[in-house]
Amino acid sequence: MKKIGVMTTGGDCAGLNAAIRAIVCRGIRGYGAEVVGIRYGAEGVYQNPMPLVTFDLTMDGWGETLLKRGGTILGSSTTLDPFRVLMDNGERQDLSDLFIKNINSLGLEALIVMGGDGSLKLLSALKAKGGLNLLAIPKTIDNDLARTDTSLGFSSAVRVATGAVDDIRTTAQSHRRVLVLEVMGRDAGHIALMSGIAGGADLILIPEIPYSWDGICSKIKEIESQKGKDFYATVVVAESVKTQEDGATTPASSKNKGHYGGIGSYIAEQIEIRTGHIARSTALGHLQRGVEADYEDRLLGTLMGSYAVDLVFQKKFGCMVTWTHGQVGHVSIEEAVSCYKGVDTKGCYVQAARAVGISFGDGQGAQAVAPSHGDRKSYS
Ligand code: F6P
Repeated sequence: MKKIGVMTTGGDCAGLNAAIRAIVCRGIRGYGAEVVGIRYGAEGVYQNPMPLVTFDLTMDGWGETLLKRGGTILGSSTTLDPFRVLMDNGERQDLSDLFIKNINSLGLEALIVMGGDGSLKLLSALKAKGGLNLLAIPKTIDNDLARTDTSLGFSSAVRVATGAVDDIRTTAQSHRRVLVLEVMGRDAGHIALMSGIAGGADLILIPEIPYSWDGICSKIKEIESQKGKDFYATVVVAESVKTQEDGATTPASSKNKGHYGGIGSYIAEQIEIRTGHIARSTALGHLQRGVEADYEDRLLGTLMGSYAVDLVFQKKFGCMVTWTHGQVGHVSIEEAVSCYKGVDTKGCYVQAARAVGISFGDGQGAQAVAPSHGDRKSYS
């Protein structure tokens, strides 16, 4: 009986459990395989003895509840890097050989890893070392992995963020304020862009389009002139936006923490000072990750998970599963990490946002000439 290993690495998100369920169902039903879950992401692999951090995934309990449940039942860690593991004495050590040895001790036919950009780069390096049959399933609410239109978790995160834009608008209206929503996305503005358009925000600030205070204030003035004393405005801010002036990312509050967060309150504070309107901010944070999977992430998890198992039994290792043009497929892990997918600033979403009057805080309005439609490459 062939054995398949499953691991989730990096930040959790919706859709991971749907994919785990699909791997278990396809593996056991389709191929009579044994499926082993590795707990706590890569951190689990360094622990001894290994059996403590693995468990057999069986068909029991894999009902609809797990299909929709957010997070990952396997647990995860954001420290996959086996080449630079932080030791108790504070030093970094290359434990990649131990990683490969411990995985091999499980007697797996292949290891399916669900990870984002960072995890996949490390998988690519592990693959280059040899000795492991790896397959990757893309997961990241940031949706910054190239070669796939979308990754697990993105859709559900956008749904949460869109609902939040809807909800802050009511308070903005009631109190005639500017309400700012800070969303995640690391270095990419996909969540902010999608939720800002779907929620009908007035301003969307994303790292790919640096903002200026003139650009933000002129949009606020435009709204003042339209709404008069019924003024209110909504702003969606991606966590790593940059200024046109000096390209600075986040305010002092988030410096040196090693992660983003805090830009929303800075933007609100500055809008209040510069425009005289009362402004408040809300940071959506991990609500975007822990949420129940929406229908798209349940479908994506099911399609990608079962397809990954098929790849194992076709012996197509070293690949990342993809979702492009409504089809599941695969590319090599190297190709997947060969470029980064930020927001296409000339793509159809940015064009559509400008066309309906949304400002990116860059002082530019809608283009006079309509963009050509039907270019699939401008997905984001
Ligand atoms: O990559 C996913 C993500 O949620 C980013 O959008 C965010 O910047 C980061 O992870 C937050 O990481 P942590 O949960 O470690 O603070």
